[in-house]
Amino acid sequence: RLILVKMAKEGLLFEGRITPELLTKGKFETKHVSAIENDSELKMLPTFVRSTPDGTENGDFLALDLGGTNFRVLLVKIRSGKRRTVEMHNKIYAIPIEVMQGTGEELFDHIVTCISDFLDYMGIKGARLPLGFTFSFPCKQTSLDAGILLNWTKGFKATDCEGEDVVYLLREGIKRREEFDLDVVAVVNDTVGTMMTCAYEDPNCEIGLIVGTGSNACYMEEMRNIEMVDGEQGRMCVNTEWGAFGDNGCLDDIRTIYDKAVDDFSLNAGKQRYEKMISGMYLGEIVRNILIDFTKRGFLFRGQISETLKTRHIFETKFLSQIESDRLALLQVRTILQQLGLNSTCDDSIIVKTVCGAVSRRAAQLCGAGMAAIVDKIRENRGLERLEITVGVDGTLYKLHPHFSRIMHQTVKELAPNCDVTFLLSEDGSGKGAALITAVGCRLREAEQ
Ligand code: BG6
Ligand code: GLC
Repeated sequence: RLILVKMAKEGLLFEGRITPELLTKGKFETKHVSAIENDSELKMLPTFVRSTPDGTENGDFLALDLGGTNFRVLLVKIRSGKRRTVEMHNKIYAIPIEVMQGTGEELFDHIVTCISDFLDYMGIKGARLPLGFTFSFPCKQTSLDAGILLNWTKGFKATDCEGEDVVYLLREGIKRREEFDLDVVAVVNDTVGTMMTCAYEDPNCEIGLIVGTGSNACYMEEMRNIEMVDGEQGRMCVNTEWGAFGDNGCLDDIRTIYDKAVDDFSLNAGKQRYEKMISGMYLGEIVRNILIDFTKRGFLFRGQISETLKTRHIFETKFLSQIESDRLALLQVRTILQQLGLNSTCDDSIIVKTVCGAVSRRAAQLCGAGMAAIVDKIRENRGLERLEITVGVDGTLYKLHPHFSRIMHQTVKELAPNCDVTFLLSEDGSGKGAALITAVGCRLREAEQ
């Protein structure tokens, strides 16, 4: 700060103007210096969630869960007290690709239509319930109920949403329908919802992890380390948006030509490079690109590249998981490939299975490396020799794949030997967590009034 003041006085900086802030002792903290010097692509977004649930949450809430494989609308009834309970009702709705990639207005109108159907279905049209919006994309939050979409990821690309507050877009959609009113209290990333869902069962859960269509993690960070939010006391959950790791080129040494091909043909080329090496939406595409290359070289399918192999996204996560299952005989692998329209010999099946294994193993190890970094960071934050912590996890790849979770856990053990990490599978999705956050949001609002 003193150097800056001197340079400003000499007219070398800030057009010679010296602000009162610049003259205030202690204004430049170490965390600001680190922030300015940091050229990382990690967004590390504050979430305004300051604690995990304590059992006092209470009330009836609506929740939306948008951004994973399924779009859900939920009614969550939380009862506090000694015998606390959570009752959930939900309905899954499709989001057609034309809506995912149409206009923002169409997307939010569709969401509101689904809410309307759900309210009818539950017979609660008249109720003005508080709502928690799980929106699984990077949002810059300034409060619990405001989140500016920084950029779409995964399969979404609706126009006129990036740079907008998605809570505002939802409220406008509700207004346009003129049918019911809802009180949108919180916007929540799926990692955060998952952490809260799991923390309701296990108070040691202070990390949320998603390994599904996309991949991301959040964790409880010390306020003193969060330069984007005022205040030094306590903790706040930070959404790392780790999927964007590598977007500055730092993963280039380990990215292959297959990763680059998948990236080039994606909706967001050059972005989310780490996610594209880990998550369900991309692993099948990496496998397909390898198989095409091997076929071109004459190692597979008698050198014949079929139309099927040219079709993007034929290898969904569920096929990868089936092919890699230990219980499956080679003949069954052949049957799966045949179902996909790929006529394979026995040798072909062995090669395909090996390729799938290599791709998913690398994904699990990369994901484990990221998680090891987070747990060790928390351990350092707390000045502990050893850290015991629980990670709440959700996502189809993690849940369905026969080896992913084991390899990921093993990697965390190896890379963070001073941390005892328990992985807790989220059974209820992130909607429950979003409702818990909404409950706290309502309580804070009441306290302010
Ligand atoms: C669900 C959560 O269970 O898992 C969602 O409720 C989350 O919020 C999803 O996005 C992630 O998994 P997938 O595989 O559906 O992307
Ligand atoms: C993508 C999104 C992120 C989300 C993750 C898992 O990486 O950007 O917000 O948490 O997918 O769904």
